[in-house]
Amino acid sequence: MSDPCPNQSTDRTARIVVGVGGGIAAYKACQLVRNFAEGGDGVRVVPTESALRFVGSATFEALSGHPVSTTVFDGVDEVRHVRIGQEADLLVIAPATADLMARLAHGRADDLLTATVLVATCPVLVAPAMHTEMWNNAATRANVEILRSRGITVMEPAHGRLTGPDTGAGRLPDAEQIAELSRTLLAGRRLEHDWDGRRVLITAGGTQENIDPVRYIGNRSSGRQGFALAEAAAQRGAQVTIVAGNTVALPTPAGAEIVPVVSTEEMYRAVQERAAASDLIIMAAAVSDFRPATQATSKMKKGSDDGALSRVELVENPDILRWSVTARDEGEIPADTVIVGFAAETGGDGHSPLELAQQKIQRKGCDLLMCNDVSGGGVFGQARNAGWLLNREGEVRDIADGTKLDVAVQILEGVDELAHDRD
Ligand code: CTP
Repeated sequence: MSDPCPNQSTDRTARIVVGVGGGIAAYKACQLVRNFAEGGDGVRVVPTESALRFVGSATFEALSGHPVSTTVFDGVDEVRHVRIGQEADLLVIAPATADLMARLAHGRADDLLTATVLVATCPVLVAPAMHTEMWNNAATRANVEILRSRGITVMEPAHGRLTGPDTGAGRLPDAEQIAELSRTLLAGRRLEHDWDGRRVLITAGGTQENIDPVRYIGNRSSGRQGFALAEAAAQRGAQVTIVAGNTVALPTPAGAEIVPVVSTEEMYRAVQERAAASDLIIMAAAVSDFRPATQATSKMKKGSDDGALSRVELVENPDILRWSVTARDEGEIPADTVIVGFAAETGGDGHSPLELAQQKIQRKGCDLLMCNDVSGGGVFGQARNAGWLLNREGEVRDIADGTKLDVAVQILEGVDELAHDRD
């Protein structure tokens, strides 16, 4: 296959190099390449020799629209590793095997991929995939440390079923997760691995309050922002627990524990059980303020029960955010635990969404509040978000429009910056 127009991206698209290591998960790189190509990005695939034992070069060539080679001795006249490395806006290696990471850590340049990495000055994202024992091995840990210390973003691998019957840490994250993190890096964000050992509790999604076995009171929250916060915290090394109400289907962030709940009462109990063991609590869930006073055990009929369905009596739910602030004041939660609330505001009564959020943070007493303007009906279920992060001292940080992961990364940076005197 000839190469008439390498890196044929336009100004609005990125030039992404996907390096593929020789592991079973190499087949997932196909989805990643496709994801980038469909997004309009110019993609080059640089596999290792052993990657081609798992996926043939024809597949990568067809998906990327570019020829594939593994060695610097192909196309010597154009010095491919220099050209591909220099022109890249982002280099993503997925899957990265233990051997490939060892070669990268030692600055080897014994094939086209490792030589390209040495040339590249763009952000580099490494998505490892291997058996748990290999991931936990001291040699691999040391190599990961070296790569991170050089500014390379090494993703935490996902937990789950590995090749063969065993389960553990080491799975390649979903192509969607790698692509989203790639876009965050392309947007100029950095994810340091600096929250090792930090315990983060996040509520996400919407709560549902049952009226009867088939009907409920709910809301439009998708859980995307809460899961993106969990992903960002996990990639920074934190130990993350998500108390998840109703959400759309979302991949589990690396190593995160998911506690599924349905109602506000269940979410309240799940938070109460875990809050004292958390360094940071982020309440991104859309919590139902009220629930039916009683829940019918059989389906309510619209024409019977004296029209009870048209007059469902509501009682107020506990305010989980308020509870956590009070519990901290009373010493049930450590004083240095940082508590972050969310506020989806439309504005009204002459007040802008930001003004309402400034009143809400004083009322709720949390340390930080992330405010979204939902007046146009956006945000819920959308892939993007924006807003302001504020503290009780009146400082406001703009959270720039971006994917929900991009916004999550900015919120966590804001936690570092605006949660004064708490750690
Ligand atoms: N929240 C909570 N428990 C509730 C209601 C809300 O923990 N019963 C949390 C949400 O997770 C969010 C924050 O409080 O972090 C603000 O939610 P919001 O619904 O905006 O607060 P309300 O007090 O219900 O304010 P409003 O009068 O605007 O509905």
